[in-house]
Amino acid sequence: MLKTISFPKESLSMNRIFENHYLMKEFVDKAAFQEIPDKVKEVYGPLVFPAPGGERPYITGCLVLSMDGRLGFEGSPSSRTLTSSNELDSSAGLTDLWTLNLVRTYADAILFGSTTLQDEGEFTGHVYDPELQLFRNSHRERFAPTPWNVIITRKPEALPWDHPILTTPHIPVLLVIPENKQHMLHTCPGGRFCYGILDARVSGSEVAHVNKLSHYQEVEEGQVDPRHLVITLPSDNFADFHLLLPLLRKLGIQQMSVESPYWIWRLMEEKVLDEFFLTYTGAYAGGESVPGKEVGFIPADRPLMELASLHLTDVTVLHSRQVLRYIDKNKRYKEETDC
Ligand SMILES: NC(=O)c1ccc[n+]([C@@H]2O[C@H](COP(=O)([O-])OP(=O)(O)OC[C@H]3O[C@@H](n4cnc5c(N)ncnc54)[C@H](OP(=O)(O)O)[C@@H]3O)[C@@H](O)[C@H]2O)c1
Repeated sequence: MLKTISFPKESLSMNRIFENHYLMKEFVDKAAFQEIPDKVKEVYGPLVFPAPGGERPYITGCLVLSMDGRLGFEGSPSSRTLTSSNELDSSAGLTDLWTLNLVRTYADAILFGSTTLQDEGEFTGHVYDPELQLFRNSHRERFAPTPWNVIITRKPEALPWDHPILTTPHIPVLLVIPENKQHMLHTCPGGRFCYGILDARVSGSEVAHVNKLSHYQEVEEGQVDPRHLVITLPSDNFADFHLLLPLLRKLGIQQMSVESPYWIWRLMEEKVLDEFFLTYTGAYAGGESVPGKEVGFIPADRPLMELASLHLTDVTVLHSRQVLRYIDKNKRYKEETDC
């Protein structure tokens, strides 16, 4: 059984204080799927995502930061510890957790980082709110019951193999590893993941078969989930998103939510993070748990954000929906002077 959490409407506090009408119209114009659960309409307001363009999934990031931009407290890094530490938040962090659930409701895959798996032993990647899960279930033509839980790691042998993501039946897992680490899976507990190994340069027909499995095959209780898949990428320049993202799309992943701080910044660097659901909770954490510290941008080529909407929980938590824009200042200057 996948765990559920009750999110009573009266416990959620979301005051929509800003809406970018231009962006909202753009979302609707570009959306292929426009259904919104009644609970979302009531608590959050309109929520529609553009269909993915090109050959990759539409990619959203989702994080909560302290008021001073930290991922959590030193020594207690969990995001839930951070949000529940804010006693001015009458929902005690429940509203932020629900926002994460909102984004997951529309996701075909959720990307996690391996440090998060090491630091947080409790969570799994699916929709915890039974009402939102019901919405997913009622749209089987669009969504699988549970999104793929994607983990990209250079060291599969060092994963916490007893983590619930890796041990819970009914959670489809995509493990992305360098090709020179494939042999490690036979000697570590990850051997049980070897149901299918896909080379990222795989043929289309193999992927079509996997896609069918991921969406429709039911798993017997107690059986190892056959939807555990391993994708291998070239070991040099790992992880090559030019190979990985089109493969994810071929697997049926139209929208992916990234909950890994490291990979959110890396995907910004690749200019493929489309949106960011970034919450600031009004607690100061201090310390060194700062996101993006391994990815430094230069002023001429920094991602920019356009605000799509802003919600407040009480007067102490800010929930933003942002659209990322990638405008190369030097290139624009060159284009302007060439004209
Ligand atoms: N506030 C929030 O909303 C929130 C959300 C999630 C997590 N967290 C917290 O944030 C912390 C984790 O964040 P994080 O950004 O440090 O880690 P992360 O995103 O969980 O994982 C990062 C992983 O990326 C891989 N990596 C790192 N450098 C790389 C490189 N140069 N090339 C390829 N792969 C590389 C490493 O995996 P391998 O070594 O396995 O290759 C590393 O473990 C945890 O303490 C967690 O509790 C907070």
